[in-house]
Amino acid sequence: MSEEKRKLVLEGKSLSKTFRLGDGSIEVLSKADIALKEASSMSIRGDSGCGKTTLLNLLARLEDADEGTIGWGGHEIDASATPSSSEAVMRARFIGVVYQAYYLIPELNVLENVLMAARLAGGVGSESVERARSLLSKMGVGDKEKQAPAKLSGGERQRVAIARALVNGPRVLLADEPTGNLDERTGGQVMDLLLDACSEQGTGLILVTHNPIFAQAADVRLFLRQGKLTKDFDEGTTKWSRPRFCGYHYPGYR
Ligand SMILES: Nc1ncnc2c1ncn2[C@@H]1O[C@H](COP(=O)(O)OP(=O)(O)OP(=O)(O)O)[C@@H](O)[C@H]1O
Ligand SMILES: [Mg+2]
Repeated sequence: MSEEKRKLVLEGKSLSKTFRLGDGSIEVLSKADIALKEASSMSIRGDSGCGKTTLLNLLARLEDADEGTIGWGGHEIDASATPSSSEAVMRARFIGVVYQAYYLIPELNVLENVLMAARLAGGVGSESVERARSLLSKMGVGDKEKQAPAKLSGGERQRVAIARALVNGPRVLLADEPTGNLDERTGGQVMDLLLDACSEQGTGLILVTHNPIFAQAADVRLFLRQGKLTKDFDEGTTKWSRPRFCGYHYPGYR
C-alpha cells in the first residue's frame, strides 16, 4: 500500500498524564501527540521511567489521561474519561496488547490464555482455536498449549502473550518490550512476526523497545523525552529498508 493511501488507525492528541505521589508529582506526558497509520510500524524508545508504558496504557484506554483525545480508527474518545466496560469489547477487537509484564492468567493453560482474547472479542469458534494453535506454533510454543503459565520460562510467557495479542487479527498492535526476555534468534523471529503483521495484514504497530536495532526497523522511529514524542535523530536522513531478522516466513493469521 502506498504511503499516501494509508489511513490513520490510531491517534493520540495532546495527551497529558501526571502521577501524584504523596506531596509530589511526576509529569509523565505533557500534551504528547502521536499518529499511527495502518500497515505501518512505529518504534518508541526512551529512558526507563520516561512514560512509554503509560503512553501505551492511555492509547489502549487501560488508564485515563488528565487531558487529550484518542482516536481508534474513526472513533474519537475523550482520553480523560474513565475507561468504560463497553470499551473493552471494542478494544479486544481493535487493539492487541503485548504487555511488558505478560499478564497471563495463572489459572488458565497456554491455549486458554490465548483464547481468552478471542472470548473478550465476542466468542471462540473452531477458527479461533485453529488460529491460536497456529500462532502458538509459529511462536515456538505449540507444544506447550496445555501448560500452566507458571511452568513456562519468561521468554515462553512472552511468546504466549504475543500470540494472544495477535489472535483477533487486530488493526493495531501495541507491543511493550516484546523482545525484552527473548534470546537474539527468538527476538528476531518475534520482530519479523510483528512487522509481517503490518505489511501483510495492514496492522499498525507501536513497538516500545530499548533495542536500537529493532527500533531502527520500524517505518517511523520516535523517542519519548520530557513528556513528548520526538523524531529519532536520523529520521529522514537514513534510507529505511526493512531487514529480515531471521529466515522466517509467517503465512498470515487471518
Ligand atoms: N500508577 C502509577 N502511580 C504512580 N506513578 C506511576 C504509576 N505508573 C507509572 N508511574 C511512574 O511514571 C513514570 C513512567 O512510568 P512508565 O512505566 O510509563 O515508564 P517506562 O518508560 O515504561 O519505563 P521502562 O522503560 O522502565 O518500562 C515512572 O516514574 C513511574 O514510576
Ligand atoms: Mg515500561
